[in-house]
Amino acid sequence: MITSNPFTPQSGWEPKIFGGRNQELGIFKSILDDAVNARLNHLVVLGEWGAGKTSLLKQFKRMSQENGFPAAFCGISKFTDKNKAIDAVYLIAEEMIMGFPKTKGVQKDIPELFAKRKALSNAQIQFTKFLLELWKTLDTKLAVVLLDDTQNLMEVSNTIDILRAVLSSEDVIKNTGFLFILSSTPAGWASFIDKHDPVGRFFRKRLNADNLKENEVMATIDMTLKGTGVAFEEEVKKNVFKYTGGHPYEVQLLASHLYDSQIEGKVKSEAWDSALNSTLKELGRDYFSFLLSKASDREKDLLKILAEEKRPVTIKDFTTMMIVGKRAKKFPIANIKNFLYRLEEKGLVRRTENSGFYIQDLMFAEFIVRFASE
Ligand SMILES: Nc1ncnc2c1ncn2[C@@H]1O[C@H](COP(=O)(O)OP(=O)(O)O)[C@@H](O)[C@H]1O
Ligand SMILES: [Mg+2]
Repeated sequence: MITSNPFTPQSGWEPKIFGGRNQELGIFKSILDDAVNARLNHLVVLGEWGAGKTSLLKQFKRMSQENGFPAAFCGISKFTDKNKAIDAVYLIAEEMIMGFPKTKGVQKDIPELFAKRKALSNAQIQFTKFLLELWKTLDTKLAVVLLDDTQNLMEVSNTIDILRAVLSSEDVIKNTGFLFILSSTPAGWASFIDKHDPVGRFFRKRLNADNLKENEVMATIDMTLKGTGVAFEEEVKKNVFKYTGGHPYEVQLLASHLYDSQIEGKVKSEAWDSALNSTLKELGRDYFSFLLSKASDREKDLLKILAEEKRPVTIKDFTTMMIVGKRAKKFPIANIKNFLYRLEEKGLVRRTENSGFYIQDLMFAEFIVRFASE
């Protein structure tokens, strides 16, 4: 009997097997220990789309509770410029009320502390009062608050600064023990620091949700497949890492398509091409089409070359290619440098030290080769 697909290529779905991340979990454990014994180090987890931020935060939540500390998870939805910081703070407060155990039964009055309509202006004072009151209802040394996707607060970016001000106020430090763990895209976080200088100095502890390593990807696949009646050939597993570079979401999606192409419980190399194609189509819908749309037509010409070459290409090489050989075409050669730097700024390409440019995500390169129209 072959079981239903055990892979979880849905954003926000925790994987069946949580791979790697030993170092990150270790860091979190020491933050918990420090928080009880010494001081609170609020943490920021940074990672791009699909890097595994939500899954990591959920793991942190579990760990906190395992260690006896209540934890509340708050997924931040997108705020617009029509919102105010108080709206965001209110959402966080509500999630905290729902997420923490109701040990002393007075929490039903807490929302009233937020005279939301009365005093739109003073989110900081209201949130301070809220934390002080909520703390009294909790019977613990430490309570953990996980705020996922804080980049969604971009349009009300002072929320993060308010959070900083509240958490650094003497009252809150002396009388409460809330540990905040935030997640964000790197660009989102950079913009908070840019707009509100003290934020960077206050949230000093950072952690990157990096790609998984090869042995971690292999082990994750093996363990996820355990008991399903399906096995991947060694070559296929190796290719999953080669193409995804260990990007958690891409691993799950590709492995999920591979799983669906099993014959008599075996996934062999013959299944590879079609599974990769379906994966790329889906990644296109989810993300890559959007990413590619950031490039102008000229920039796309250069991207296509990088996608085909799959190696760093220097400006000089590009120039030569445009003049002679199969790719020769009418192209504003003097601007190649500008186009490439702009692609780098947009996060579509990277640059090596000796200034060759390359596409970091092999799946994205493959997507361009197969689907970027002429
Ligand atoms: N440590 C991990 N091991 C295995 N799969 C993971 C891991 N972290 C995330 N995933 C998977 O990767 C995908 C994206 O993870 P998610 O946490 O939603 O990323 P993000 O919040 O950064 O967008 C999900 O399908 C999830 O199941
Ligand atoms: Mg997420």
